[in-house]
Amino acid sequence: MNASSRIPGFYKLDPESRFLKLLEFSGLPAEQLRPLQGTDVRMASIADRMIENAVGTFSIPLGVAANFLVNGIDYLVPMATEEPSVVAAASNAALIAREKGGFHTSGTDPVMIAQVQILDVADPHGARLRLLEARDELLALANAQDPLLVQLGGGARGIEVRLLESGDFRSVVLHLQVDVRDAMGANAVNTMAEALAPRIAAIARGRSLLRILSNKADLRLVRARAVFDAEKLGGPEVVDGIVDASRFAAADPYRAATHNKGIMNGISAVVLATGNDTRAIEAGAHCHACREGRYTPLSYFEKDADGNLVGTIELPLALGLVGGATKTHPAAQAAVKLLAVKSAVQLAEVTAAVGLAQNMAALRALATEGIQRGHMSLHARNVAAAAGAAESEIGALVQRLVADGHVRLDRAQQLLAEIRAESKSSPK
Ligand code: MEV
Repeated sequence: MNASSRIPGFYKLDPESRFLKLLEFSGLPAEQLRPLQGTDVRMASIADRMIENAVGTFSIPLGVAANFLVNGIDYLVPMATEEPSVVAAASNAALIAREKGGFHTSGTDPVMIAQVQILDVADPHGARLRLLEARDELLALANAQDPLLVQLGGGARGIEVRLLESGDFRSVVLHLQVDVRDAMGANAVNTMAEALAPRIAAIARGRSLLRILSNKADLRLVRARAVFDAEKLGGPEVVDGIVDASRFAAADPYRAATHNKGIMNGISAVVLATGNDTRAIEAGAHCHACREGRYTPLSYFEKDADGNLVGTIELPLALGLVGGATKTHPAAQAAVKLLAVKSAVQLAEVTAAVGLAQNMAALRALATEGIQRGHMSLHARNVAAAAGAAESEIGALVQRLVADGHVRLDRAQQLLAEIRAESKSSPK
């Protein structure tokens, strides 16, 4: 009979005791499951405070992208990613952008939206106007929930009332718009939405149901642009190639999804490294890509009057500096310190610049030699290690694998055997 996954009190145990339960459940020896605990003992107790049922931590590489100049300020950008080539590509694109002054950004205030859903309203149009008339009362009630936010210059800014109809579904939805300053904002706006719901329901003469922020954070937009020198990119054909790649994404959702994935390679890596919510950012980004009813790219590339490449990006970025994992995770705190940003808006600006750089680097590779060659040497290192090469053999094996052009495990094993045979037969 299989062991049961019903383990009463599992959540009350400490991480080490939970780990022992995993051994009992799986019947596996401790060495095989040990990597689930991670190597940093101090992190295990932090993890236990961050989530439920923690047994350890999961490491992924943390790289630092160089060369970023954003609004005249230099940044070294921490990026947490498991994907080879991402950090190198971002650094390289940022180096080219520097030539023409780096990245320039703009954006909105950090305004988040909370939705309060009201059902069973007899007169939705009447309810909408009654709610709009109560704007000042509702904003004051919202602000009373978070005096500190108001003191910091944030707070509830406005309301919008929408009437939804779909089949036999009817709902009045009130949007509360809140300037959340340096927070991601979920806690602040959810608290306000829950506090306001009974009053909103009373005014609308209906019943409230959902009270939650929207990840379509389209009042919290950030934009970045940069000029990439044609010569540094490799010449006018490369510029034309990137412009054509951008047009392809604009014309085709199949391509736009991959184009945007390339952007998110950079953005999600910064979001994760700074302890922010990758899912919130990704939901917001893809929803923004669909804002006109069709999936579109988040960035565009054009050729300017001098023949250089102009890249632009716009997306919502609900990033915070003051809550969640950004506050509790030591590596996220260190990442924010390294970035030395003074506000969540500044963090969003740098992050958008990284997305644009990442995207440009991918399109440049795709429009020229393809991405496989760039991937090959890192990939070859992994294959060489998997083939059993010792640290001292990896360099030579990687060279042969890349030159050979077949970066596969079986080929690596053959080449490793050749290297070992040669070193045995060579005179000492
Ligand atoms: C791979 O992770 C990302 C790319 O596919 C992005 C793109 O195609 O633009 C290279």
